[in-house]
This record gives sequence, C-alpha cells and structure tokens, in this order.
Amino acid sequence: MHKEGTPGHRHVPWIDQGDGLRASGACKWEGEGKNSVTSKDHLLCFSCVQTYDMREMDSVASVLELVLLHYSAVSSSLCGEQSKFSMRHSVSEITAIIRDRRTIQPKDYSDREVQRDVINQVLGNAIWAPTHGMTQPWRFSVFTGAGRERLSAFMGSEYMRITPPEKFMQRKYDNHVQRPLQSSVAITLGMARDPKGKIPLHEEQYAVACAVQNMYLTCAAYGLGAFWSTGAVLTGDAMRDFVELGPEGHCLGLFYLGYPKGEWPKGYRKPLPDFVRYFEG
Ligand SMILES: Cc1cc2nc3c(=O)[nH]c(=O)nc-3n(C[C@H](O)[C@H](O)[C@H](O)COP(=O)(O)O)c2cc1C
Repeated sequence: MHKEGTPGHRHVPWIDQGDGLRASGACKWEGEGKNSVTSKDHLLCFSCVQTYDMREMDSVASVLELVLLHYSAVSSSLCGEQSKFSMRHSVSEITAIIRDRRTIQPKDYSDREVQRDVINQVLGNAIWAPTHGMTQPWRFSVFTGAGRERLSAFMGSEYMRITPPEKFMQRKYDNHVQRPLQSSVAITLGMARDPKGKIPLHEEQYAVACAVQNMYLTCAAYGLGAFWSTGAVLTGDAMRDFVELGPEGHCLGLFYLGYPKGEWPKGYRKPLPDFVRYFEG
C-alpha cells in the first residue's frame, strides 16, 4: 500500500488502508486535486467517467489490476468518452519549457541563421496569447539580412539624437548598433491601439507581453536564444514611427533571436513561498 508522500504514491495513488480497502481518489496521474470517491464502495474515474464498484474487487491485487488496466486505457485513449476533467497536455513538459526558457543576449549568438519557418512558428504562437476584447493588438516587424543594417543604423542615430552629450555612453551606443547585427533576426514588439479605444492602453500592452512570453517559450523549445530588450530608443515615438505603428501605437521593445554559441544558461528564481500568500478562511 502506498501512502501520501512515498515514492510509489504517484503511480498507485488511490489506495489507502484506513478503514479497509477503499479509494481515496481517482486517476491522480490525470491531475492533482481531482480525486473523487462517490462512496466508500464506489470509485469514479474522472478520465473515462465510469464508476467502479469496489465491492467486486476481491483483493488488493484486483484493485491494482484495475489501476493498471485503467492507466493503459487512459494512456491509449481507449476510454469511450472524452473526459471533461482529464488533463489535456503534459504538465511536466510545459513546466520544463517554462523553467528552461532563458534570456540570451545577441553577443552570445552564433552565426547560424534562423530559418523563416522557425520565425513564423515563433510569431504564429505569439498571436495565440490572450487578448481582452479580441483586439489582437500585436504587430511585428521582422528584420533579417540587410534589414538588420537599416535597424542598426536607425538605433544608432536615434540614440545619438535623444542622448545629451554629457549622458552619452559608448557601451550603450555600441549595444544599439551591434545587437541587430549580432542577431539572426530582430523583431519589433509593436502594439496597435484598438481604434475604438474600448480596451485600456495598459491592457493592450499586457496582451503584447503575453505574446512575447509565447515567443520566448517557443524559442526555448527550439533551443533558440531570445532577448527582450527595452529602453528609450526602442520604445520611443521615433521607433513607433519607424515601424509605422500609427500615432496611437507603441513599440514595447525589440526581440532578438539567434542560436546560442555556448551552453544554455541556468536560471534562478527565489522559492515560491516568497511570492505567494493563501487566504483560506
Ligand atoms: C519587459 C522586459 C524588458 C526587459 N528588458 C531588458 C533590457 O532592456 N536589458 C536586459 O539586459 N534585459 C532585459 N530583460 C530581460 C531580463 O534581464 C531577464 O528576463 C532577467 O534577467 C531574467 O532572466 P531570464 O529571462 O533568463 O529568466 C527584460 C525583460 C522583460 C520582461
């Protein structure tokens, strides 16, 4: 018998000795927190939406057999009915991508070109971000090849234009000029305002930020370095006009892409309890 917290718990999760043989949950491999026991004697499977009469099980072995049968039925989609409650994707896979996603700067990219179909996949996933009122405010301008030189020249001259001489920093100027050329692709993260203005500006920006996260995750899946860069040059009115976003539009920065020339970097986050409070009563 497996108890909470023991290594085998995940695989045979719903058997509990307690007051005899009974189910303490169903199909835990289909998702935490979805357990259900219809009664002491019946087990409801959330995956195939069937009730199993535990009184027909004459031994622990029978219950285990049911678990295995059930697991294979779930995994090979033999359940006759699509469950309302079953998980639809692998949480471990999406968790792995989310946690592996990293910011990698253009100086760390190799010369390897990012192919057009990869760019389109990245942007094709971007546009599936949530959008209040379905305004779909994202607009992307993609700079590749010699297009990057135009962008680089614009960024260099714009940095010079908006920076007072006493604030000029050679390192910053070089970054603006070099980053587009160090990247295989640079994409402006544009936001076009809904003409009726029914959605607040900041919500349109949130939607674009969600799109950027989709881009980042897709890049991580490809092993592609990505870097969301902001700052006055990249978010000012001149950049907005450079990529023709209209007077109400806004550029939220640049998204650089390139294959990393070194190791994929490790990430770091503080522990979850530093950020979360539950109110339970
Ligand atoms: C809105 C936004 C703007 C950012 N702008 C910059 C930037 O201008 N320069 C920079 O070095 N990093 C920038 N970053 C990237 C962060 O530095 C990076 O996400 C952070 O260091 C965490 O690293 P990770 O993305 O690898 O987890 C930006 C990130 C976000 C979300």
